[in-house]
Amino acid sequence: MKKILLLVCLACVSAYGQKFDNLALTPPMGWNSWNKFADKVNEDLIRQTADAMVSSGMKDAGYEYINIDDTWEGERDSQGFIQTDPRKFPSGMKALADYVHAKGLKLGIYSDAGAKTCGGKPASRGHEYQDALTYAQWGIDYLKYDWCGCEDLNAKGAYTTMRDALHAAGRPIVFSICEWGSNKPWEWAGEVGNLWRTTGDIHPCFDCKEDHGTWYSWGVLQILDQQEGLRKYAGPGHWNDPDMLEVGNGMTANEDRAHFSMWCMLAAPLISGNDLRHMSKETSEILLNKDVIAVDQDKLGIEGFRYSSDSILEVWFKPLADGDWAMCVLNRSTRPQKVRFDWKNKKVSDDLSKRETRFDTTVYRVRNLWTRRDLGTTEETLNAELPGHDVLMLRLNKQ
Ligand code: GLA
Repeated sequence: MKKILLLVCLACVSAYGQKFDNLALTPPMGWNSWNKFADKVNEDLIRQTADAMVSSGMKDAGYEYINIDDTWEGERDSQGFIQTDPRKFPSGMKALADYVHAKGLKLGIYSDAGAKTCGGKPASRGHEYQDALTYAQWGIDYLKYDWCGCEDLNAKGAYTTMRDALHAAGRPIVFSICEWGSNKPWEWAGEVGNLWRTTGDIHPCFDCKEDHGTWYSWGVLQILDQQEGLRKYAGPGHWNDPDMLEVGNGMTANEDRAHFSMWCMLAAPLISGNDLRHMSKETSEILLNKDVIAVDQDKLGIEGFRYSSDSILEVWFKPLADGDWAMCVLNRSTRPQKVRFDWKNKKVSDDLSKRETRFDTTVYRVRNLWTRRDLGTTEETLNAELPGHDVLMLRLNKQ
């Protein structure tokens, strides 16, 4: 009897106080309904998006999660279990998960640590263990967990409760912490979740902020600037999340390219937020560029850093596995700019990865990742012209 009790106790202890191992070892890639569809989400959209994820080549490029954001929720049943909104999801969530899994993809869902979601639907406060169990039974693979109506909660405590509930339910679920950076999640969330939002919501503009009365949403440059100082907190299994992509949602192709490139330099989760069923050629060429995606997904898992800036042109470097570097020149202005970079007189050193390269002694081959052209080596000075709100993104390959 004592032995059985001891075993039961050990099982309890191992179910608590930890997150799942081996999830999100590279930044998660997928799609989320919110940026484009907001509350217009339903099972037809999710099925069609899963189909499009495969037929567009996005699945082959590494996108995996189909994430349903807010307003999928129905009422709780008489025992407190959450149900899907039957008008939007008449076949139920389990059937949808089966459909998505049959395509070789994964399904994500959304809730909130408060009593109601940001869209006013029932949320998980006081129901964390029930909800985690329900998600596991449905076959959910990813949970984005929001922070509306949580003013009286301790963030680390609230997110840890849900982490423990997910772990106790037993199905590995990527845990996406979405408290907008309000409580410095980078300082505590490495042990709690797999990614954490570092800012308020993104807005599909390159350089603006949008006033919503009590809060702002942010353009690409505004979010980029809020990542300062955070790179040391990220790594395999625990990523800074500068919010979902707005590629294909109204910015120019140059701006979309710059946005996507900078998110890859940041080793950010690549969660597309556009209508995958109707993508322009420009949009799909951006989202499907495997060389740029490889920078994001590099197995070193180290974020890039701003190497230099004159407030118009910024040069970023990201250390990659096998001694390579990614380099990205960002034009923050709307006007074309001339770029000149004489590698031979430059040294790049990074305390975090302990990598240092002196280009006078080490020669790299240079490849432009957007034109897919080889540009020679770092022995020659780089000369280029960069359109407004665009990037020059290079991979430096050690010879
Ligand atoms: C918050 C989140 C968004 C989205 C909405 C849904 O604003 O930050 O990403 O999930 O809620 O209501």
